[in-house]
Amino acid sequence: MKHIELSPRLRAVAELVPSGTRFADVGTDHAYLPVYLIQEGIISGAVASDLREGPLDRARQTAERYGVTDKISFRLCDGLDRVAPEEAETIAIAGMGGETIAAILGAAPWTKLGEHRLLLQPMSALPELRSWLQKAGYVIRKERLCQEGKTIYTVIEAGHGEMPPLSPAECWAGRQDTCAGDPLRPTLLAHLLRRVERALTGIRQSARPEDIPWKDELEQVRTGLIAMQEEETK
Ligand SMILES: C[S@@+](CC[C@H](N)C(=O)[O-])C[C@H]1O[C@@H](n2cnc3c(N)ncnc32)[C@H](O)[C@@H]1O
Repeated sequence: MKHIELSPRLRAVAELVPSGTRFADVGTDHAYLPVYLIQEGIISGAVASDLREGPLDRARQTAERYGVTDKISFRLCDGLDRVAPEEAETIAIAGMGGETIAAILGAAPWTKLGEHRLLLQPMSALPELRSWLQKAGYVIRKERLCQEGKTIYTVIEAGHGEMPPLSPAECWAGRQDTCAGDPLRPTLLAHLLRRVERALTGIRQSARPEDIPWKDELEQVRTGLIAMQEEETK
């Protein structure tokens, strides 16, 4: 049987899945991730959920094509609504906006019981997701980066636990210690710094009082990112 190939983004998620774990993939779409993990012998089975029929049908087709249908339980549901806490030790929520990921976790408070490893791969709103995780009682244990073309993707490994509040720059880029040693970290910091400088160029010219807090926050992000860059090059 042919083996499935993962994109660098999904491979970065797969690399954080421990061998033998009970696994759930939320928003599975084509089910590439669980099928890969089963084919590689990393897990023996999985729950694969999606909000919509179309993606879940695609998931079933992939499983069929690679001969692993009997190893995956398919669930049509919003987030983790039809996944029981004991069915998964490791939960991947990948390829969605940060707000959607937060909403899925918020609707499943059992993910905070301390027994679940959460692998989160947001496509947008990373600062909002990191800040939400801290306030909601999750700890970010590590972050891994990968690159596809010019885009750098982040995978966040989180679980239940206390995490001190994040600075504005840490919300944007993650904490230095959780991202330590990632070869793409300098590229990410340079990329974020360019983005914040662009946003500041516009907002520095604004005379609107309501822009002042946003400008102050962006200045703090900029200062924090520069400090991180300096620390990286030490
Ligand atoms: C862009 S695809 C990502 C597929 C795969 N996880 C990946 O990373 O390549 C996003 C999938 O998430 C599903 N989705 C969006 N919101 C969801 C929710 N609240 N619960 C479950 N699935 C959701 C969509 O239907 C879609 O199939």
